[in-house]
Amino acid sequence: MLSEKGQHAVVYGHRGLGKTSLANVLAQVFENYIFYKVNCNRADTYNSLWKKILRKITFINQQRTTGFKYETIDSVQRIVLPDNMEVSIDMLEDILSSFTEPMVFIFDEFDSVSSEILKAQMADTIKLFSDNYPHLKIILMGVAENITQLLGQHPSIERCIKQINLSEMQSPELLEIIENGFKTLHIEASDLIKNQIVMLSSGYPHYVHQLCYFACENAIKRNSSVIEKIDLDESIRKCVEDGDFSLHTQLTAALGKNPDKNQFAKLIMACILCAEQSTVFSMEQIKHHFKHFESYENESTHIHVIVGMLCHSSRGFFLSMIRTPGGKMYKLSQPLMRPFVKIQMHSQLSGVL
Ligand SMILES: Nc1ncnc2c1ncn2[C@@H]1O[C@H](COP(=O)(O)OP(=O)(O)OP(=O)(O)O)[C@@H](O)[C@H]1O
Ligand SMILES: [Mg+2]
Repeated sequence: MLSEKGQHAVVYGHRGLGKTSLANVLAQVFENYIFYKVNCNRADTYNSLWKKILRKITFINQQRTTGFKYETIDSVQRIVLPDNMEVSIDMLEDILSSFTEPMVFIFDEFDSVSSEILKAQMADTIKLFSDNYPHLKIILMGVAENITQLLGQHPSIERCIKQINLSEMQSPELLEIIENGFKTLHIEASDLIKNQIVMLSSGYPHYVHQLCYFACENAIKRNSSVIEKIDLDESIRKCVEDGDFSLHTQLTAALGKNPDKNQFAKLIMACILCAEQSTVFSMEQIKHHFKHFESYENESTHIHVIVGMLCHSSRGFFLSMIRTPGGKMYKLSQPLMRPFVKIQMHSQLSGVL
């Protein structure tokens, strides 16, 4: 995309799949571009976002000393932007048109932008750069199912936007992360342990890192350079303790007051087993997997009620219901819940995963 004239990019995907990490390595890969990255937040406007960027830009100012034998003195300068000055698209063009260096402007966490006006202004800026300043590039990144969710609908820029959907990593990629890390640390582990880390991580590099980190820490504490089952068990325990707060809150709500005594835990695990096979699943599939945890014969209505409740706010919207021509389907509201539950409920799930 960077080498294609007039092309910009939108990088989208679920939480935790490596968008920010990708942004952070781009500068190492494309050395001929200068990268400027900002994080967006809910309060941002076009003015505040571009001010954050423009204030990072430095340039060399050359000044001649006076006199017959003059010298040239270089000084690093920044763009001076008075606080009361509002950056508009025209002003941005005035400022940036004087720069000839290839620049990439990355707006991370663009999903926190809710203003449709700001989204439209960004789309207009992409069009402006694409038509007139091919050395200036914009990359928008954020959590979204598709580009429209992130940027809204702007047909005029469809052709100049590369859509990059970051999906869950494949097992060989995760295995590569594990092996590279272990090699650097001179740590070894059996294929069984490595595959278990891959399985628990469900395509999310974050969990690979976390599980490996705690497992290595435990092995090193034991003065061992080999990761054993006890290290992985300890690592899982620490990951449970260290778990993401919002996922924890959602799972606690979904489980309810007496998770050992009620059916919610079993149904949650059945949903996780469904999600292992496909993002969207049916009631029949949930019932099928429920049988792993309880032999049930005629409690079909009971399961319907629980599944319905898991779609409700009182149960943290654990599931989302989707109406399709073929009937109701379900999916995990938070895709990250899959590895989270697999780690949190590891002991109950270990026989069936
Ligand atoms: N290609 C990769 N190789 C190894 N580890 C990676 C890779 N990509 C991401 N990670 C690791 O995965 C974790 C999550 O990545 P990152 O924060 O980049 O995701 P994100 O998509 O920006 O998440 P969020 O949506 O929450 O902002 C980080 O701990 C990072 O180190
Ligand atoms: Mg990020």
